[in-house]
Amino acid sequence: MSSNDSSQRVVSGMRPTGRLHLGHYHGVLKNWVQLQHEYECYFFVADWHALTTNYEDTGDVNQYTFDTAVDWLASGVNPSAATLFVQSKVPEHAELHLLLSMITPVAWLERVPSYKDQQAKLNDRDLSTYGFLGYPLLQAADILMYRAGNVPVGADQVAHVELTREVARRFNHIYGREPGFEEQAEAAVKKMGKKAARLYRDLRRSYLEQGDTEALERARALLAEQQNLSIGDTERLFGYLEGGGRIILPEPQSLLTEQAKVPGLDGEKMSKSYGNTIEIREAPESTEEKIRTMQTDPARVRRKDPGNPENCPVFGLHRIYSDEKTVQWVTDGCRNAGIGCIDCKQPLIDAITSEQRERQERAAKFEEDPGLVHSILLEGSEKARDVARETIEDVRAAIGLGG
Ligand code: TRP
Ligand code: SF4
Repeated sequence: MSSNDSSQRVVSGMRPTGRLHLGHYHGVLKNWVQLQHEYECYFFVADWHALTTNYEDTGDVNQYTFDTAVDWLASGVNPSAATLFVQSKVPEHAELHLLLSMITPVAWLERVPSYKDQQAKLNDRDLSTYGFLGYPLLQAADILMYRAGNVPVGADQVAHVELTREVARRFNHIYGREPGFEEQAEAAVKKMGKKAARLYRDLRRSYLEQGDTEALERARALLAEQQNLSIGDTERLFGYLEGGGRIILPEPQSLLTEQAKVPGLDGEKMSKSYGNTIEIREAPESTEEKIRTMQTDPARVRRKDPGNPENCPVFGLHRIYSDEKTVQWVTDGCRNAGIGCIDCKQPLIDAITSEQRERQERAAKFEEDPGLVHSILLEGSEKARDVARETIEDVRAAIGLGG
């Protein structure tokens, strides 16, 4: 596939964690709905990824997968515009993960920030497994499988895309080399002179075996200083450090999309684990109740006390949902106690519940007929598999497997 096609492809996954909330909608789904018209999109439920942190407790995974898919559909993700599928229904992901695991230094995985962060944060879970260490590598397989140029992710996932790039580069380097490349590169190393050649080899080894990116930088600097090398040899040696040769798995980029921070009911970031969410298909009465009792600026104890919208999570929601005029009305009314908090919350209740009604209308036919959702996912999984099989065939052939 040409790099051109790759730049037109988008892949992204979401772990099935149950019903999605407004944080997911504004952080992710709204972007997907936009992207599906601009790119060839593959969106999937990462059910294997859910197992990496929750292997003991799998009773909900199918229900959560279903709920997640319905939430996507309800939000306007359209199965005729994007391919929607389930990771475990495309078992080629597991094969690619396995093959990539052969060439991935353990140190690369251990230094992914989420590895230690999550272990510290989720200390009631067993995260000392091989599967959890491999989480970002499975993600790399998900991405590289579709040779997608773009991965829409939040800031917390950028390191995973970065790892994906490094793994792709290493794969292409090992299995994509042209015949004779290594001999030519080795001959070029010798031309640098003994001392520089030894340093180049040491640095290259540190990078390739331990994933030491500082060594990679130093080796590049060393090459840039060389005066005895032809341009061809210099390029060869840059390639020899980290790739060069045929590109079998193109390197993807993070598509860092603008992510509205959605405050939860208590003012913390909206998150299922904090129990402070409004679901994207929440019943309007329940939403109304939640917003009415939502945390406001603690300084406004009584109606006549002036407040500061900057200290109020309700204002955070206005920033997302309200037009400029309403935002101004809130700002003035709050600061001079011209409006009460109940007045302030009303336009939000209207905006959010009207959005929810729309989503519930879209979801109704899927809730009535779950088979419809299953067939969308099945069809999507078959479509994804067609692409996955092609990639796996190229990968096997490049490695030299399967005759
Ligand atoms: N790790 C991602 C998350 O927690 C989910 C995910 C799995 C993903 N595979 C992916 C995202 C591939 C983008 C591409 O949000
Ligand atoms: Fe918050 Fe609005 Fe009340 Fe001000 S008036 S404290 S912004 S809810």
